[in-house]
Amino acid sequence: MTPLTAAETYLQDFHQRQVGVTSAAFAHLPASSPAGTWASSYHVLTSLAPAVDAPLSVLDLACGDGHLLGLLAARRQPQLQLLGIDMSQAELAAARATLPASVRLLQGRGQTLDVPSASVDYLVSHMALMLMDDIEQVVREMRRVLRPGGQFAAIVGRTFLLGEVNDVFMRVFKPIASDALPPLRFGDRRTGSEAGWRELLAGAFADVAFDDIDVRWSPTPGELWTALTDTYDIDRLHDGARQRLREAFLDAAAHLQDSDGTIATGWGLRLVCARAA
Ligand SMILES: C[S@@+](CC[C@H](N)C(=O)[O-])C[C@H]1O[C@@H](n2cnc3c(N)ncnc32)[C@H](O)[C@@H]1O
Repeated sequence: MTPLTAAETYLQDFHQRQVGVTSAAFAHLPASSPAGTWASSYHVLTSLAPAVDAPLSVLDLACGDGHLLGLLAARRQPQLQLLGIDMSQAELAAARATLPASVRLLQGRGQTLDVPSASVDYLVSHMALMLMDDIEQVVREMRRVLRPGGQFAAIVGRTFLLGEVNDVFMRVFKPIASDALPPLRFGDRRTGSEAGWRELLAGAFADVAFDDIDVRWSPTPGELWTALTDTYDIDRLHDGARQRLREAFLDAAAHLQDSDGTIATGWGLRLVCARAA
């Protein structure tokens, strides 16, 4: 593989230590948007994969521990060919341990896909494209491997937490981060907005469409903090700064608890869809 960037080196290390954290966080939470409701944000993507009795090849880019591929494999669609690519060997090992042998898994980066041109009908990606360096090259590779008319659909981040607790968190996080978080840039800012995606996909893709997906969740403050420790920037804080953040956050968020002790929040995601032109 090409030498990894600083962000990729960190991501490799994180996913070596924290295998499967993304599916642990998202697989059990329902997702909704003005357009519908789904069992999870992974189901938003699987619901867009045609259930046809004809050959269909699906690539999951940055497949992690293979949760999405597992949902597709469970359909038992006879002519479905499933391929997952991820740069993390540890995540792929977890995927291999649970997925049927017919699902192909490759270690690799989104910037150089070891996949023949025009061989993929449907390319999906869940919570990964906003992390990738040189996203323009990733988009070129996605277009190259998709056949003309093939579909692209990705779930990416939209906001961090849903509801008032997001502002509360940012208020306590920013001063601690500016003091204690080593600089490291993840991905391309354009993956955080609809305008940015339109710019990235222009020319090579058509019929670009978006949907705001909310993954609602009502954790206790302690459960929410535990989930936050599995996010990259909080993981990157040293122990003392993380402890300071924990205390400041739990204190600042206490007034947001409902009568049952939980906080109404969740994760704000975005669905990006397009057709290979
Ligand atoms: C937040 S996890 C999401 C994993 C999986 N898609 C899921 O939702 O369960 C991000 C994944 O992207 C992978 N990744 C990040 N940058 C990548 C790149 N440039 N090429 C391939 N994989 C990458 C990481 O190894 C990690 O498995």
